[in-house]
Amino acid sequence: MTIKKNIFSILLLTFAVFNITAQEAIPEVEALLNKMTLDEKIGQLNLLTPGGGIATGSVVSKNVELKIKEGQVGGLFGVSGPEKVRQAQEIAIKNSRLKIPLLIGSDIIHGYKTTYPIPLGVASSWNMELIESAAKMAAKEATADGINWNFSPMVDISRDARWGRISEGSGEDPYLGSAIATAMVKGYQGNDLSNSQTMMATVKHLALYGAVEAGRDYNSVDMSKVKMYNQYLPPYQAAVDAGVGSAMTSFNDIDGIPATGNKWLITDLLRKQWGFKGFVVSDYTSVNEMTAHGLGDLQAVSAQALNAGLDMDMVGEGFLTTLKKSVKEGKVTEEAITIACRRILTAKHQLGLFDDPYRYSDTSRPEKDILTTENREAARKIATQSFVLLKNENNVLPLKKDAKIALVGPLANDKNNMLGTWAPTGDPQLSIPVLEGLKNVAPKARISYTKGANITNDGEFAKRVNVFGLRVDIDTRTPEAMLSEALQNSENADIIVAVVGEASEFAGEAASRTEISIPPSQKKLIKALVETGKPVVLVLFSGRPLTISDEFTLPVSILQVWNPGVEAGNAIADVIFGDYNPSGKLTASWPRNVGQIPIYHSMKNTGRPAPTNRFEKFKSNYLDSEISPLFPFGYGLSYTTFEYSDLVVEKKKITQDELVNISVTVKNTGDYDGEEVVQLYLKDEVRSITPPVRELKGFKKIFLKKGETKTVSLTLYANDLKFYNSNLQFVSEPGKFVVFVGSDSTAEMSAEFELE
Ligand code: BGC
Repeated sequence: MTIKKNIFSILLLTFAVFNITAQEAIPEVEALLNKMTLDEKIGQLNLLTPGGGIATGSVVSKNVELKIKEGQVGGLFGVSGPEKVRQAQEIAIKNSRLKIPLLIGSDIIHGYKTTYPIPLGVASSWNMELIESAAKMAAKEATADGINWNFSPMVDISRDARWGRISEGSGEDPYLGSAIATAMVKGYQGNDLSNSQTMMATVKHLALYGAVEAGRDYNSVDMSKVKMYNQYLPPYQAAVDAGVGSAMTSFNDIDGIPATGNKWLITDLLRKQWGFKGFVVSDYTSVNEMTAHGLGDLQAVSAQALNAGLDMDMVGEGFLTTLKKSVKEGKVTEEAITIACRRILTAKHQLGLFDDPYRYSDTSRPEKDILTTENREAARKIATQSFVLLKNENNVLPLKKDAKIALVGPLANDKNNMLGTWAPTGDPQLSIPVLEGLKNVAPKARISYTKGANITNDGEFAKRVNVFGLRVDIDTRTPEAMLSEALQNSENADIIVAVVGEASEFAGEAASRTEISIPPSQKKLIKALVETGKPVVLVLFSGRPLTISDEFTLPVSILQVWNPGVEAGNAIADVIFGDYNPSGKLTASWPRNVGQIPIYHSMKNTGRPAPTNRFEKFKSNYLDSEISPLFPFGYGLSYTTFEYSDLVVEKKKITQDELVNISVTVKNTGDYDGEEVVQLYLKDEVRSITPPVRELKGFKKIFLKKGETKTVSLTLYANDLKFYNSNLQFVSEPGKFVVFVGSDSTAEMSAEFELE
């Protein structure tokens, strides 16, 4: 007992010297650290990719095998399959001096091989259980293929649809974004990281990456602390609170300092204020890129990144090649390297890799766990819930299963654009095109297909989006010939279904657009189809909100389907034929035109708010456009209708720590069973810093049978009334609050209460 006690005190003392808490100290890790040379510690901070995933920078690592043998690699990504992962681990275990297993990372952004919709689509489901289960499914598949560490969730708030990576996140709102971040971390990590069916998650990209100026990828970010804390940081913090194992820094700078070398961000905020216990990895060569940002040579920026609190260097090898020299020159301490190394070894320990380095290399698993019928069914369900019905002209939808349909459009019989951006682990050839899906779900429908138009006729643009394979295939026929074929084909149809929009790589990384409308080739097709006088349904693909004011004014119905994943066609058919009644709601406002960007529901009132639907001089409005978006945050129709009544706020006066219980009655007044997302928005009437006009502070997705009425309860917690004031204290201030409840962010039904 005494001996044990003594060992414990010695350990505690060691931990105190290295500035760690007893909670973080793992004897096995400490014992290993004691044996490690400086070079071996630096080796653990090095993350390489031998290629095989998507190389998003110009570098792919060289001599990876040799480096593993020499103890110069802490983790790999772009390697998958239990055999290959076993081989990689064997190189480390059998040939390196200390036999330290490798982290095996990957970007599993929306499903592993069973690709489900892009994150912006999944978010539109507003269904947290579904989102958690989707992440869980991805973890089961990925771990079956050897992966133990995932570069997801991406939780960057974005209010700029020009930015291609808006597709990878949850949209504009910090409250919803935080709920989704929590659900994803739980789904990936489960309760036990050493379980061979869970993987470590990475919250990214810390921080503010979604606010790059002008929506241009990798651009600068400059933002007040008040805006940061209130609007952009909450989802990262939510992921930390949910126990996320690692965090990835972003490419952008914050207050003039690149995130990767930003001590305030990594150490003061993430570690000290938020209590993050995991390790921090850079983004792809983002350490090296600090040189291009203007912060010095590779040695200087690597030292800055380590001193800022970065633990692992992705691909750039700045740590590997310069840290030892920096120790000698006194620019970094060995202690800082030890601390970073400890965090990485701790992660490996949590994943159970020291107990069994081959834990994720079970060759019997891929067949049992990947792309199973059950998983494909789940992907189909997730997709149906991600679709947003933007318009249903004359209630044309759902279609009858024996309808005579002219199916038209460049995305109607296409496998290359179903999965969406950032799906390097999925196989586009396994996806169900819309034509096939319609036939599967409605075998009696008479469907004739023509392409009608190219995704774009612009060859230069096509080249830019075809970097990962053929996404835009420009037909050898002339646009006129394609159009006339489509029109001819439509002549005998009852209805035209046109599948149009963006190709996958119109969005995603380094895929920013200054013009976010439907490409001219397809606009022309849509117009010509409408001129036939037949009812037209647009099935709209995109990785971002689009500007579709022109199409909206046409007599068409519009179903927004994002990029639905491997079960695309089946899911679209489920909704078009009414087997599933659409329930998705937008999680980012859709602007009328690019000039309105950034646009989001929680904007400020300003001192000169504009009148509704009317221009007035010297008010905050535009000469040439309305100020409201085309579709507000939270918007989405159903085949049925819902009526809200009896909004009740339980107490009219509350004290600082009290809850506010709110109830509302919702009735399904239409002809179909359906789901509704009941949304609660809050307006803080008076406070010390200018409040947003309203903010999302609660929601509940409910199912109502045709004719059914339910009373829905929602609760506002003390924190929901709080905000960061100009001293960055998280406070609520006394005064009047207005609650709005309804089916989108323009909800008008309201009630008030007062905080004493
Ligand atoms: C992206 C990250 C990604 C990394 C590794 C980078 O270019 O910004 O989101 O995780 O590449 O693939």
